[in-house]
Amino acid sequence: MDMTMTIRRYRPGEEDALWCLYHDTTHRINGRDYTPEQCERWAPAIPDMSQWTERIRARNPFVAEHDGQILGFAELEPDGHIDFFYCHHAHQRQGVGRRLYEALEAEATRLRIPSLHAAVSTNAKAFFLRMGFKVEKEQRNIVCGVVAPNTIMRKELASDLRDAGMECSSPTDRHSSLTFRQLTPAEEAAGYQVICDTVDWLREKGIKLWEKPLPREVYTVRQQRGENYGLFVGGELAGVVSLVRGAAQQWTEELPDRRIMWMSTLTTANAFRGRGLGRQIVEQAIALLTDRGETMLYLDCKPGFLVDFYSKAGFEEVARKTATIHRGSTCYRAEVVLMRRAL
Ligand SMILES: CC(C)(COP(=O)(O)OP(=O)(O)OC[C@H]1O[C@@H](n2cnc3c(N)ncnc32)[C@H](O)[C@@H]1OP(=O)(O)O)[C@@H](O)C(=O)NCCC(=O)NCCS
Repeated sequence: MDMTMTIRRYRPGEEDALWCLYHDTTHRINGRDYTPEQCERWAPAIPDMSQWTERIRARNPFVAEHDGQILGFAELEPDGHIDFFYCHHAHQRQGVGRRLYEALEAEATRLRIPSLHAAVSTNAKAFFLRMGFKVEKEQRNIVCGVVAPNTIMRKELASDLRDAGMECSSPTDRHSSLTFRQLTPAEEAAGYQVICDTVDWLREKGIKLWEKPLPREVYTVRQQRGENYGLFVGGELAGVVSLVRGAAQQWTEELPDRRIMWMSTLTTANAFRGRGLGRQIVEQAIALLTDRGETMLYLDCKPGFLVDFYSKAGFEEVARKTATIHRGSTCYRAEVVLMRRAL
């Protein structure tokens, strides 16, 4: 089976299948170590599916699939926390967990997350030990009036990162390392500041591009969904971009499919302008999405030099129109060009 198992990111529409797997594994596998009441608390017979769907969309888990059937899923958060990690109850000890874990660790390494950690159930402790985790703390939580032990486990990845020589140098920055990765929760404010600084800079220069920053709450929602990325030069945040699912509001009629990838809010930090880093961010985003198995990337921009900039990165113009652009509580009319790039 191992040969034909695919590990990929979850696809919208799979929330019900993931819930069933989670529910059944919790009751049948974890149920060996915990009481029926505890299992019911974690995976109730009547779930709040809108909350679950929201969670799955935000976490964008890895999914193991074989012959059209989902055999497991695993979540990775930007700070290295592994929350849900579940394999199908009828496919335990068949290598599904290992394959999921390997994909998750590879992604963590690529994102330069220094360590992975999880609060592990009794059943899963042996598995995580096998994957190289160490016990940090044994806990005895009380759930439904009964002790529900679990174990905090951690695996350091930092030395592996150094060994793997993950630092890459670019032609524009031969002396500093360049890293492109998801922003951690602690970096969200710095990411948003880069956007606000850009608006000030554009205003100073009299360039009519972004008249107002993206509303803060929109950036926070993107952060919670793991959609905010940063380019780091020698450890300093040199630029940001958001890679989100679904077209911007002004194009949802032309692009109704909520699964498409949309590139938004690309900017370099003021201190890093004019060094070709905008191009670097676009190239890194394309490489990352190609890696993930995405097939098309869309964006829109104002007509003019930006159309040339994106054309040089392989984007083609699809449409242009005058649209109403929504910025929080305000909106304005502007001409916009829709572009796309096959991955
Ligand atoms: C934990 C879990 C995800 C492991 O998935 P799995 O597909 O059964 O694991 P694999 O078959 O890939 O096992 C990988 C390795 O771990 C070992 N392993 C897995 N479960 C084990 C167990 N219960 N006891 C001893 N070793 C175990 C396997 O022997 C294998 O070692 P090997 O490759 O050297 O032979 C799965 O048991 C599960 O879904 N558990 C219930 C949900 C859960 O508790 N999740 C954790 C929440 S934190």
